[in-house]
Amino acid sequence: MKNIEWSSLEFGYTRTDYNVRCHYKDGKWGELEVSDSEMLTIHMSSTCLHYGQEAFEGLKAFRGKDGKIRVFRRVENAKRMISSANHVMMIAPPVELFTRAVDKAIKLNEEYVPPYDSGASLYIRPLLIGVGPRMGVAPAKEYLFVVFVSPVGPYFKAGFKPVKAMLERVYDRAAPNGTGHIKVGGNYAAGMLSTHEAHERGYALSIFLDSKEKKYIDECGPANFFGIKNNTYITPSARTILPSITNDSLMTLARHLGMTVERRKIPVEELATFEEAGGCGTAAVISPVSIIDDLSTGQSIIIGSPDTAGPWSTRLYNQLRAIQYGDAPDEFGWNSIVE
Ligand code: PLP
Ligand code: COI
Repeated sequence: MKNIEWSSLEFGYTRTDYNVRCHYKDGKWGELEVSDSEMLTIHMSSTCLHYGQEAFEGLKAFRGKDGKIRVFRRVENAKRMISSANHVMMIAPPVELFTRAVDKAIKLNEEYVPPYDSGASLYIRPLLIGVGPRMGVAPAKEYLFVVFVSPVGPYFKAGFKPVKAMLERVYDRAAPNGTGHIKVGGNYAAGMLSTHEAHERGYALSIFLDSKEKKYIDECGPANFFGIKNNTYITPSARTILPSITNDSLMTLARHLGMTVERRKIPVEELATFEEAGGCGTAAVISPVSIIDDLSTGQSIIIGSPDTAGPWSTRLYNQLRAIQYGDAPDEFGWNSIVE
């Protein structure tokens, strides 16, 4: 194992030894290559640089008490990258290439998979970009698929503790029939100013509203939103929302724990009725939200305790983490062991 202070890691980039790459050229994918360089050399007229032909993924691998490395639901990330690529007219790596590249990147860097009980994990970042010279607005003819990894700590500094959020009343993250449902860089660029302004005002994140009517909850920063009341897990359903693999897993666990699950529009006025709420995603798993301020009305919505996550959120969080670290049986077949 590398000599890293695992427990003080933040959610950031740490150099590892290798990454893997694959080129799509002349109508086919080449061999998977291993690189020890952190740099990419691409044509300055690449479509990823000018026209946003870019998609990425984010998933994690965990070291268990038994020393085994488990990667979580990587086939779902492969499928989502295909969906992202199709929408922005890129050629996607097939599922088999994607999973092979992910496993290889983990295996090559296995000394960077944090020890069990450090609270850290290995974040895996698959990236797909359109490359090669292009001047007109049209899909690239060549693509580069890269998978690199980085050991990471928790996304939010406070860890599994409630955070304060603000309702975003000015900016939109994604257009109603745009690209919100796929994982492309442009969505993150569109959301950056909002997050920046939220941070400046002392909030951990901003909650986006539907961009058409500004009536319904959309995304919760770079995560899906969920609210809980009356033993019911409620999460918004809209084309502008990224289908979160964490959220899908939490819905499965919620049903399993006896909760009712609803996927539907959540009007802003409903926020005040939730007993618990949070954002969910690979990086944070669950980030409980206890205060949501609407700066346009001055209303402050208090959800649960400001100091501790609610009981259902805690149960769901613990159960998902237990499966990911191999402490609980993998009943739904979510883990793949990297050998
Ligand atoms: N929504 C957005 C905008 C995201 O960036 C992410 C993170 O990937 C999520 C939701 C959560 O998705 P997942 O649980 O698959 O990581
Ligand atoms: C997530 O994994 O939940 C994220 O949103 C990751 C982020 C760094 C894009």
